[in-house]
Amino acid sequence: MMRTMLICIFAVTFLCAAAGISLADNGPTEMTLQAEKDKAKTPKPAVFPHQKHQGFAKCADCHHDAKDGKQVAYTEGMKIQKCETCHFSGSGMDKKLETFKDAAHTNCKECHKTTAAAKPELAEKFKGCMPCHPKK
Ligand code: HEC
Ligand code: HEC
Ligand code: HEC
Ligand code: HEC
Repeated sequence: MMRTMLICIFAVTFLCAAAGISLADNGPTEMTLQAEKDKAKTPKPAVFPHQKHQGFAKCADCHHDAKDGKQVAYTEGMKIQKCETCHFSGSGMDKKLETFKDAAHTNCKECHKTTAAAKPELAEKFKGCMPCHPKK
């Protein structure tokens, strides 16, 4: 069953590639986010189920582009770059957005806060540094 499914997926992918059709690039399913430019002495990787978020959030809730130091809103098919391409120490951005950590904390925590306020049953799950930095 699993094998047949995999073979089908390969076949479709191969046929699309051969026909020059590219499937929409939704990025990785699961991610472990970790700063590379602003490496912390004690790294604190963040768990991020990317695909799951695509089920309830819009690409534009997290992705955008920039021109002349100003944010440019997400448009479909836009080239998506890593946050650290623009958010890193010395980028000249506001303190609250300067590094990957700053930009991510602003983006991720803001929405989790709103979500927890609207759905009290999630308050426990979203407590403290959870669910992004689970204790090992
Ligand atoms: C909603 C998700 C979320 C929550 C909640 C959260 N963080 Fe983060 N944090 C991130 C992401 C995403 C990054 C950027 C990736 C990275 O560097 O780990 C990050 C980065 C960091 C970094 C930089 C680590 C490094 O390796 O560069 C520190 C330190 C940190 N967070 C501390 C905290 C602490 C302490 C709390 C709780 C008080 C917290 N964070 C809560 C998502 C979160
Ligand atoms: C809740 C926030 C969020 C949503 C919603 C979201 N993404 Fe992402 N996406 C991220 C983060 C964070 C990364 C990791 C960026 C990094 O590594 O700096 C990422 C990475 C990616 C990457 C890989 C970029 C690279 O070069 O590593 C692609 C492609 C992508 N997303 C496409 C999409 C598309 C298309 C949608 C909408 C269908 C979407 N994302 C929705 C947060 C989100
Ligand atoms: C091509 C450059 C670029 C990339 C890539 C980028 N940003 Fe930004 N971002 C900007 C600029 C420029 C601003 C506006 C800064 C200002 O107004 O001071 C901004 C603003 C923001 C803001 C504040 C405004 C808002 O929309 O809430 C957040 C939060 C943010 N970025 C998070 C992220 C995250 C998370 C990623 C990766 C998923 C990311 N950014 C990728 C350039 C970029
Ligand atoms: C637009 C809103 C929004 C943004 C932005 C957002 N999240 Fe979430 N996130 C949610 C919601 C809603 C849930 C809860 C889903 C549920 O359990 O019902 C969630 C759940 C999670 C979970 C737990 C998933 C699980 O399966 O239990 C993790 C981990 C997480 N988010 C990490 C992040 C990180 C890291 C970022 C930033 C890169 C981020 N989120 C940005 C809305 C958001």
